[in-house]
Amino acid sequence: MGTAALVTGASSGIGRATACRLAAHGATVALLARQAEALEQVCREIRSAGGDAFVVCADLVDAVGAEQAVAQVIDRAGRLDMLINCAGAAHLSSFADDAPSQWQCMIDTNLSGTLNVSHAALSYLAAAARSDRGTADLVTVGFTAGRQSGPVTSVYAATKQAITAWSEGLRRELAPSGVRVGLIQPGLVDTPLARRLGAGPGQGLNAAVVADAIVYVVTRPAGVAVAELVVRAVGR
Ligand SMILES: NC(=O)c1ccc[n+]([C@@H]2O[C@H](COP(=O)([O-])OP(=O)(O)OC[C@H]3O[C@@H](n4cnc5c(N)ncnc54)[C@H](OP(=O)(O)O)[C@@H]3O)[C@@H](O)[C@H]2O)c1
Repeated sequence: MGTAALVTGASSGIGRATACRLAAHGATVALLARQAEALEQVCREIRSAGGDAFVVCADLVDAVGAEQAVAQVIDRAGRLDMLINCAGAAHLSSFADDAPSQWQCMIDTNLSGTLNVSHAALSYLAAAARSDRGTADLVTVGFTAGRQSGPVTSVYAATKQAITAWSEGLRRELAPSGVRVGLIQPGLVDTPLARRLGAGPGQGLNAAVVADAIVYVVTRPAGVAVAELVVRAVGR
């Protein structure tokens, strides 16, 4: 690929699987999350498989931290061709039983965190789109709850529906610059997040399947943009 990708939420679940897949495709991958040790582990795995990766520790809820993280990627990789937004948080609860700290965490992480890092990356993505590759990608992981809300997902779905609206607006805003903006909406995925919410082992899609969908989006030829993909397990 010969490109540089920043994957947020790269220490776990979908972000981790995506980082590994992109590295296997030849991208230099910047691995971003808050916990350094988990990121270092992913970094070691990628390097031992012959890939190129480095760690960027940041809390994306902090706009300055997000900006500094993107600056670190540019210092290290010299360019940014892809931003893959996988960092996210979920607490499923009826709204009546919810606590402000829980819904604030989802709004901060899923919405503000995504916007903070995306805003910081925009000028570098536009520069990459003007370069030899001729395109750049900003892909965000939503959720099928971004299409449909339910009794214990009202706030989570609200954050994902906000991301859906933002992604579509940004897609249209950036289209003239050559930066492709895509949204992946998976159903349940077997990750630590899903387990924390009570899903059993093996319940839901394998994270690698979602990673493959993301790789599909960013490997389309310049001139082809996949705006939205919904990936569900058969029968759900
Ligand atoms: N699992 C599912 O069923 C499913 C389905 C559809 C969509 N999704 C969405 O897919 C995305 C990834 O979910 P997942 O299941 O892979 O979750 P996960 O395994 O819990 O991974 C979440 C990642 O986000 C990072 N993160 C959380 N808060 C952060 C912050 N403030 N700043 C930087 N990084 C942060 C975490 O690392 P640190 O804690 O180290 O920061 C971790 O790497 C989320 O947006 C989720 O809503 C999940």
